[in-house]
Amino acid sequence: MGERTVKLAVIGGDGIGPEVVAEGLRVLSAVAPAHGLSFETTHYDLGARRWHATGETLTDEVEQELRGHDAILLGAVGDPSVPSGVLERGLLLRLRFAFSHYVNLRPVRLYPGVATPLADRGPDDIDMLVVREGTEGPYAGMGGVLRKGTPDEIATQDSVNTRMGVERVVRYAFAKAAERPRKKLTLVHKDNVLTYAGDLWQRTVRAVGEEYPQVSVDYSHVDAAAMFFVNQPERFDVIVTDNLFGDIITDIGAAITGGIGLAASGNINPENAFPSMFEPVHGSAPDIAGQGKADPTATVLSVALMLDHLGAPEAARRVEQAVAEDLEVRAKEGSTRSTSQIGDDLVARVARQG
Ligand code: NAI
Ligand code: MG
Repeated sequence: MGERTVKLAVIGGDGIGPEVVAEGLRVLSAVAPAHGLSFETTHYDLGARRWHATGETLTDEVEQELRGHDAILLGAVGDPSVPSGVLERGLLLRLRFAFSHYVNLRPVRLYPGVATPLADRGPDDIDMLVVREGTEGPYAGMGGVLRKGTPDEIATQDSVNTRMGVERVVRYAFAKAAERPRKKLTLVHKDNVLTYAGDLWQRTVRAVGEEYPQVSVDYSHVDAAAMFFVNQPERFDVIVTDNLFGDIITDIGAAITGGIGLAASGNINPENAFPSMFEPVHGSAPDIAGQGKADPTATVLSVALMLDHLGAPEAARRVEQAVAEDLEVRAKEGSTRSTSQIGDDLVARVARQG
């Protein structure tokens, strides 16, 4: 196999971000060579510290540099000392928009041995892939405020839905559904109330669905979907949904599959016109930062999503297998391991499979 060098930008960020990213990188180094990949990493100091020191979140220069990479691995940004929204909008959302990360991919999968709060449900019942739209919807930043601070204040926050934007994410979701054994796609929206946007999503799903006769299509209102995540998660295989709905239902997804320490995500530009960005769903967890208590598993599973995206599915499966084995052992023996001890064990498991 020819060796391929991947230019990886690493943004550890704040709090536990750098701690979990360090373990993700160790697992990556352990698995990559056997699959013909070598990673050339560049670390970027972005997040709260940078903002306090310089007032910058992301400069045009740094954005330009990041653009020259093949992928980005991010820990988390955010700190109680920074006003809420500054780093989220200035860094995370900016990168998602600038790099056209229109697919926000969030697997919701219960691994064997992991405790779920749902009674009588196991790994066979919870195995879905949520494809959340990442660049439009209410997160697009359209809207405004009038007469701020007065009793007559008006605030609007528009939901942006373009035919192009909806179609490209729906197309991606159909392609994913077609690859999976169940071949089922559920559109999650609220088309009875959000009639204009909902109609666009519905018509787009119907139109693209004609190209995928092997995929069965279902529809669920988002409020019903929230309920089904809890009482009938087995209904879902691949879900495609709007930016806001996807944000919310994937938190329920994390809660039913072992919590935030395990939930992975990818901000993907499928055409590779820009680097895609992989990150755990969780934040910087200032309450446990610097104590070696953070679970690096969500980051390691995000590394697996990155390997898939980079065209190394065998490497991705190996990382997931190592995580699955580790979680089963944890279930039997309990675990009080530190962040780096979990990393050690995952590295050893990945190496053993080779
Ligand atoms: P959080 O996800 O950082 O923490 C929520 C709870 O989960 C905390 O009790 C934390 O200790 C725990 N937790 C999180 N990750 C864990 C891990 N890997 N292992 C073990 N326990 C873990 O969410 P929170 O507290 O609402 O936000 C903290 C900061 O992170 C805020 O500044 C927020 O804006 C930011 N944030 C950043 C995100 C990102 O960079 N993508 C996403 C979510 C929040
Ligand atoms: Mg969220």
